[in-house]
Amino acid sequence: MNKLEIIREPIEKELNEFKTLFDVSLKSSIPLLNEVLGYIRQKNGKMMRPMLVLLMAKLYGKVNDSTLHAALSLELLHTASLVHDDVVDVSDKRRGQASVNALYDNKVSILVGDYLLATSLRHAAFSQSIALVDLIAKLGQLLSEGEVVQLNSTNDSVFSEDVYFDIIRKKTAALFLASAESGAISVNASSEQIQAAGQIGELIGMAFQIKDDIFDYFDNAELGKPTGNDMMEGKLTLPAIYALNRTNNQEMHNLALRIRSLKATKDEIASFIAFVKQEGGIEYADRVMCGFCDKALALLPVSVDPIVKKALIAYIDFVIDREI
Ligand code: IPE
Ligand code: IPE
Ligand code: MG
Ligand code: MG
Repeated sequence: MNKLEIIREPIEKELNEFKTLFDVSLKSSIPLLNEVLGYIRQKNGKMMRPMLVLLMAKLYGKVNDSTLHAALSLELLHTASLVHDDVVDVSDKRRGQASVNALYDNKVSILVGDYLLATSLRHAAFSQSIALVDLIAKLGQLLSEGEVVQLNSTNDSVFSEDVYFDIIRKKTAALFLASAESGAISVNASSEQIQAAGQIGELIGMAFQIKDDIFDYFDNAELGKPTGNDMMEGKLTLPAIYALNRTNNQEMHNLALRIRSLKATKDEIASFIAFVKQEGGIEYADRVMCGFCDKALALLPVSVDPIVKKALIAYIDFVIDREI
């Protein structure tokens, strides 16, 4: 069995149920809206967040309607954030197809993203759990905060790991934290169990975003989004921050600032990427990512069902090893 099959083994039935409900939620009686929702529906994501909700629910109890609504709510919020993200990042590709803003325009993206967000909140309400509604609404705030801090950080003249970690904790890890917690909440796990689930989720999410940031340094046809895009957007991530703090190469410091202010050319970005690689930025980011995953693995509780535990271990391995 490959990793994805091991992850899915204990939740196969529930994940299929989830997918059916997810497709139903992406419908509208308004023709244009329905068309765009259909376009989004035709290319599924990896479903990392719903799989985590389901696995955590299985770890502490039995998947129920509340679990499914939480999973729907979180995947819809994630989808909404991607539709809006591609507008913010002026990105023309998502999941191997044209982004909604590229195929339609920014106006359509903002409106469809809002619709998805509202649909997400309805599913939170359908879970019948105020704790879940609060968790998901707060999560929406955190995601926006992370994006705003990131937007602002392109004006910084320092290259701070702390700022980087704060951004990825909010924009990505918070969603994994909420997924893991909501799975546990949905099956009435104890407060200690909910907290442990959240911690594991957050650590996984930090590793997940570092991996995503490493991807930007390599060509990868399967990824379905452009390479070198982060720097084209003025974003310097962990490999670059490490390389810059390791040397006082003034030329590269100046170039990094030009990248942040969107003044660097493609060739300059290519030479910056070579500098980061030469300084060991990728290996460093890899080590930090593995550190987060090791901590998550160490926190995994004993499971009454070894298949669930095996699936969670495979999930963590997948975050590190994935090519998509
Ligand atoms: C993309 O998340 C956004 C990041 C946090 C990097 P995914 O890589 O999980 O996106 P999909 O849902 O599988 O497309
Ligand atoms: C994705 O962030 C959206 C959120 C995490 C909210 P990025 O802009 O870093 O990721 P990609 O590369 O477009 O998926
Ligand atoms: Mg972005
Ligand atoms: Mg983006």
